[in-house]
Amino acid sequence: MINIEQIRAQFPALNQSVNEYALTYLDNAATTQKPQCVIDAMADYYQTHNANVHRGSHHLTAQATTLFEQARETVAQFIGACSPDTVIWTRGATESINLVAQSYGRQQLSVNDEILICENEHHANIVPWQLIAEQTGAKVIKVPITHNGEFDIDAFNSLLSTRCKIVAIAHITNVTGARQPIEQVITAAHQIGAKVLVDGAQGIVHEKVNVTELDADFYVFSGHKLYAPNGIGVLYAKPELLDTMPVWQGGGKMVDKVSFDTGTSFAQAPAKFEAGTPNVAGAIGLATAINWYRQFDHHEVKQHIHQLQLNAQMALNTIDDIKIIGFQPDAGIISFVMPGVHHQDIATLLDQQAIAVREGHHCAHPLMDALGIKGTVRISFAIYNTQQDVDRLISSVKKAVDIL
Ligand code: ALA
Repeated sequence: MINIEQIRAQFPALNQSVNEYALTYLDNAATTQKPQCVIDAMADYYQTHNANVHRGSHHLTAQATTLFEQARETVAQFIGACSPDTVIWTRGATESINLVAQSYGRQQLSVNDEILICENEHHANIVPWQLIAEQTGAKVIKVPITHNGEFDIDAFNSLLSTRCKIVAIAHITNVTGARQPIEQVITAAHQIGAKVLVDGAQGIVHEKVNVTELDADFYVFSGHKLYAPNGIGVLYAKPELLDTMPVWQGGGKMVDKVSFDTGTSFAQAPAKFEAGTPNVAGAIGLATAINWYRQFDHHEVKQHIHQLQLNAQMALNTIDDIKIIGFQPDAGIISFVMPGVHHQDIATLLDQQAIAVREGHHCAHPLMDALGIKGTVRISFAIYNTQQDVDRLISSVKKAVDIL
């Protein structure tokens, strides 16, 4: 059995008071806190191994390069990729999507080609596609949601045609935590020759991902929601796609040969997509977080988060003025509104009692518009949350409702 108190004790940031109350951190879909081993691994890198990678031949650069490439292998194994060379380091899921749009999209899209995106997507999986559509003459086609904010698979199937070249879909959505039908979408898209990018920013935390079995063309995620540092992320792409995708940023280490006379030829993937000095400490931190996280039984972790979410949902449902939006038991996320009350007012009152939640549109304007709301209060659980966190949350929400 996982011991939550022992796990919690490994997170120094959780052990603090805010406004004279013990911190209750329930903003994990925005970013998770970091275990001591991740903080130590990054400090150890800077204290002992710090050097640039794949450059020079001294002792420290060899050590740093080994750690950096081992981290890539750890990620590849974690997501079931066929080779570490299919793992590209980026700054996060957002940069990974921009890379695919500006490289694969720029090469493949032309006038009137279609990119299908559901209106419940995060801005990071909408705006890069709008930008490349403007640049190429392609069209972004909106897939509508069902009444409770979910991906409408029937609408998707009816919109999918041979004009579609790319489908971009979140594995798990960030507002309601809904698990999306990515398998059905991938199968249907492949039947008409379209490629699928899966945004795994939330999904990588809550599901065991095997990109090979999933047959995803692209799978992207950030480290910081997976107990790893900020500023490190991953793009996985099928090797045959990486081979033909053009470079998107130029700089050191992504080249084969640079010449003023004959021009520049480029390295193979992953190097050709990693211009400049990479985030070595971040990669090491991410690999450490992955190794830390996978020591726990996935089913037990999922069950723990699921139980907290159900308990919170049941308690919130007893509070008259609270309305939960599109509840899904997949990712420990609950979004709620209180009609007539601004979401920021609720979150501010919660913060006064040291309850950290996110409020607002959650970078999902089209979803808010489709649901006819301005924003929600979002609670999101992680492995280290406890029933005491739920109890504190509920009592603070009740106080806030009384005041408002
Ligand atoms: N994408 C993150 C969230 O949903 C930041 O809060």
